[in-house]
Amino acid sequence: MSAPENRTASVVFTILGSLCGAGLAAMAWMGRYYYLLPAAERPLSELHSRLRPSGSIGLVYGIIGLTLIIMNLGYLVRSSFVRLDWMGSLRSWMSMHVFTGITGALFVLLHSAFLLRNPMAALAAVSLFIVVGSGIVGRYIYTHVPRSLQGRELELAELEKAIKELHQELSKSGVELAEGTGESEAASKRNVLSALTGIISSDRAEKIEFENLRRAVMASPQMAASAAGILPLARRYLREKSGLARYQELRELMRSWRVFHRWFSIMMLIVAVLHVLVATNLGGLGLSLP
Ligand code: HEM
Repeated sequence: MSAPENRTASVVFTILGSLCGAGLAAMAWMGRYYYLLPAAERPLSELHSRLRPSGSIGLVYGIIGLTLIIMNLGYLVRSSFVRLDWMGSLRSWMSMHVFTGITGALFVLLHSAFLLRNPMAALAAVSLFIVVGSGIVGRYIYTHVPRSLQGRELELAELEKAIKELHQELSKSGVELAEGTGESEAASKRNVLSALTGIISSDRAEKIEFENLRRAVMASPQMAASAAGILPLARRYLREKSGLARYQELRELMRSWRVFHRWFSIMMLIVAVLHVLVATNLGGLGLSLP
C-alpha cells in the first residue's frame, strides 16, 4: 500500500496563517480611523505616533514583515543548497514558504499604513506584491507537477511506475480503471497562457472523473466498506495520470515561472534593503520617514 502523504506542516502553517491573518485584520480594523485619513491629516491624529511606518507599532510591523521575508528564503536554501533529509521534506518547507510570504506581505502592508509616498518604499512594496501574486500562480502550477511524498519532482520513469502501482492497488480493491495513457504530444507545444488554461480544464475533467468513480465505489457494497482507503488513492491516480499527459509542459511551465519569481524576488529584496538603509538614514537610525 502506498504511504500516505504527511500533511502536518501544511495543517500547522494553515492554522498559523489564519490566526495571523485574523490578528492583522483586527489590528487594521482598530486603526481604521487613522488608515482612512488623507496623508496630510494623519500627523494631526493621536494614532500617528504609533501607526505611521516609523511609529512604535508601525515599525514593529515592518521588522516582523522583513524577518518573515528573510525566513521565506529558507525554502531556496533548503531546495537548492542543503539537501539534508533530517531538515524536513520540501513539501513542509513549501508550506513554510507560503505562510511567511503571505503573512510577511500583510505585515508590510500594515507597516506602509496603506500609503505609498516614498518612491523606494513604494517600489519595494509593489515588487513584494508582484512576487506574492506570482507565488500564488506558481503554487497552483506546483501542485500539478508530479512529486514524491518528500516534494521532489518525479522523473518520467518514476511517474510511470507510480501510476502503474496505483492502478494495481486500485484494481486489487475492485476499482475498474482504463490504463493510464502516456504523455500527450499536443500538451508540449502550447504557450504559457494556453498551458495554464489547459491545467484548469484538466482539473475540471479530473473532478468529474473522480466524482463518477466515487459514486461507483459508494454504490458497490464491497468497495464502499473500504472507501476511506480507496478514494485518496483514486484521487492520486487521476492527478498523476493527468500529470503524465502534460509532463513536459508542466515542467517547462514551472521552470520558466521559477526564473520570473526568483529574479523578481531578488529585485524586491535589493530594493527593500535600500529602503531600510534610506529610512534609517543609511544605518544611522534617524528614522526620517513620515
Ligand atoms: C516574500 C515573498 C516571496 C519571496 C521573496 C519568494 C522567493 C522565492 C524564491 C527565491 C524561490 C526559489 C526559486 C528557485 O528555485 O530558483 C521561490 C520558489 C517558490 N515560491 Fe516563492 N517567494 C515568495 C512568496 C511566495 C508565495 C506567497 C508563494 C505561494 C503562495 C510562493 C510560491 C513559490 C513556489 C511554488 C516556488 C517554487 C518551488 C519549486 O519549484 O521548488 N512564493 N520563492
